[in-house]
Amino acid sequence: MIEPTRRQTLGGLAALAALPASVRAAPPAPASLDTLARKGGRRFGSAIAWNPRNADSGSVQNRAYAALVQRECGLVVPENEMKWQWLRKSPDSFDFTAMDGIVGWAKASGLGVRGHTLLWHRPKWFPGWLNDYDFGANPAAEAERLLTTHIRTVTARYGGIINSWDVVNEAIDHDRNAPIETSLSRAMGSPEAVLDLAFHTARDAAPGAELVYNDYMSWEPAHAKHCADVLRLLEGFRKRGTPVDALGIQSHIEMFSLDPATGVGPYREREWRAFLDDVVGMGYRLLITEFDVKDKALPSDVAVRDAKVADYTRRYFDLMLDYEQLGDILAWGMVDKYSWLQGFAPRDDGREVRACPYDDAYQAKPMRAAIAASLGAAG
Ligand code: XIL
Repeated sequence: MIEPTRRQTLGGLAALAALPASVRAAPPAPASLDTLARKGGRRFGSAIAWNPRNADSGSVQNRAYAALVQRECGLVVPENEMKWQWLRKSPDSFDFTAMDGIVGWAKASGLGVRGHTLLWHRPKWFPGWLNDYDFGANPAAEAERLLTTHIRTVTARYGGIINSWDVVNEAIDHDRNAPIETSLSRAMGSPEAVLDLAFHTARDAAPGAELVYNDYMSWEPAHAKHCADVLRLLEGFRKRGTPVDALGIQSHIEMFSLDPATGVGPYREREWRAFLDDVVGMGYRLLITEFDVKDKALPSDVAVRDAKVADYTRRYFDLMLDYEQLGDILAWGMVDKYSWLQGFAPRDDGREVRACPYDDAYQAKPMRAAIAASLGAAG
C-alpha cells in the first residue's frame, strides 16, 4: 500500500471538514468481498432463498439480508429453489415461482446468478414421484426424456442470466465407493449414463456456459476416500469425452476435532494440494460453491470460536487462492442464524453454529476479515 504524505492527509482532513456532519460521521465503506474477489478476476457470492411466508430467513424477502447480499456480493445462487423437489412437483409440470422470484430480484439488483442444480443425483433429494416412477416399457428412453426435458426447460428459462451450472451435484455413493444409483440410473443402465447425458444435454442447451460437477469432498482427513472417488469420476468424464468444465468444491469445511499443533481442525494440506493438482491437471477449473464452517469441536466462548473459525478460514482461502484455476467463490449463506448448519450440524452445547461471515446483528465477524485479507493478498 502507498502511504499518504502528510500534505495529502491534511488536505484530506480539510476536505472532510467541509462535508456535512452526517457524512463526516460515516466511516469509509470497506471494499466489498466481491470487489476484492474481482481484483483476482473472480466473483464473490452467496446462497439466498425465496421465502415469501417468512421474512426472518436468509431470503430475498428479508430486507436486511437482501441488502447485505447486495452490498457484499456479485452473484447469488438459489439455496433450494432450483432443485427438482422445488421445481418438479409432478412429472409433467414445472413450478418456477420461487426461482423466478430470485432471478427477478437478482436482475434488479445487478447480481449474477449460478445454477444449482440441474441434477442432485441422490434418491434423498429426488421428488418422491421420481423415486417411485413407473418408467414403462422402454425405461431408458423414458428416463432420458424426463432428464433432457428438465435440463432443456430450466436452462432455456434462465440461460440469459446464468452462465455457470452445477449440472450434477453429489453423485458418489460412499458405501460402494462408486457413483450412486437412483431410479434414473436403474432405468438407464448405469449412473455414468445419467451423468453423461446430463452434461451433454446441458452443453447443447447452454453452449457458452460453464458446466460444473459439484461435490463436498474436502481437505479434512475423513474425506480422503471421497476425494479418491471424485478423482475417478472426473477421470471417467475425460475418458468418455463428457463435457465437464470445472469441479465445484462445496467447501463446507469442518472442525469436528482439533489439532494441537495448529489449534484448528486437522486438514491434509499436502494431500489436498495433490488432489487439486490432479483435478486441474486434467484441465478442470475450480470453484468454491458453498463455503461455511462447522465449529463443533470449538469451545462455547464466542470470541474464541470466531477467532478459530477465522484462522481456519484464512488457511483454507490462502491455499485455494494459490490456484489461478479457481473462479467464483460463494458462501452458503451470509448470516449465522439462517445457516442450514443450525439444523444439519448443530453443536453439542446447543449454541448457534458460528458458520458465516456475519453474525445475527449483521455485524461482520472475524471470518469476514479473514476472507477479505485472503482475497486482498491474492488479488
Ligand atoms: C441444503 C440447504 O441449505 C437446505 O436448506 C436443504 O434442506 C438441504 O440442502 N450441499 C448442497 C446444497 O449441494 O444444495 C445443500 O443445501 C447443502 C449441501
